[in-house]
Amino acid sequence: MRIRSLALLLTGALAISSLSAQTKTTKATATAPAATAEPAKPPFQLFALPYATDALAPVISQRTVKLHYGKHVVGYLDKLNKLVRENDIKERDLVRLVRFSSGAIFDNAGQLLNHLLYFKQFRPYEAGRVTEPQGALRAALLRSYKDFDAFKADFEKAGGEIFGSGWLWLSTDEAGDIYVEKTSNAGTPVTRGRVPLLAIDIWEHAYYLDYENRRADHLRAIWQIIDWEVVGRRYEARAKGVQL
Ligand SMILES: [Fe+2]
Repeated sequence: MRIRSLALLLTGALAISSLSAQTKTTKATATAPAATAEPAKPPFQLFALPYATDALAPVISQRTVKLHYGKHVVGYLDKLNKLVRENDIKERDLVRLVRFSSGAIFDNAGQLLNHLLYFKQFRPYEAGRVTEPQGALRAALLRSYKDFDAFKADFEKAGGEIFGSGWLWLSTDEAGDIYVEKTSNAGTPVTRGRVPLLAIDIWEHAYYLDYENRRADHLRAIWQIIDWEVVGRRYEARAKGVQL
């Protein structure tokens, strides 16, 4: 705001100076357009959705996506940018910021990272199309579960056990072992030294408009829109750290 005010003052000063110059000379010259101050780029920007806001329906409605992405995620982003500026934080790597921050900065940076992982792992809904993980991720899951359905049942059960707001995760470590994890609020496997693969938002804003209090129904339906190619790539590139 101060930069903008200064720019306006300078513009005004140039105009007065130019007017004065014109009155002293007989030749009137066109004045160059005044330069406008560019607003400073925010430290962190909003990520783009890789699909239309209605693409996940009916598993997740357009109304929920618009509210979730357009209001909740934007709210975390705006608060994070405000805190980063106020505290003169130079870190611009979101994963490192999450790993080494605490308090309100962790809460908002964690939520931005968690939602990035969440929204990027879905693909548009297609009636009747159900896929399963393939390749190395499938092999890793089958080292711990007798089949994919057993994994899904265990994952959904863990999601039902989260008390209050939080996240349900499939994560891995450098060795490639897999973990089903539960975190509260903005918690993430990143702070445990693990790499998130699948992030399911258990905050009510993620499902309440569509499923009311039926969280289990939401978890049962969400398999229909998981993009296992994205999740599989996160697994295969785990040595490089968090893959967004
Ligand atoms: Fe959320």
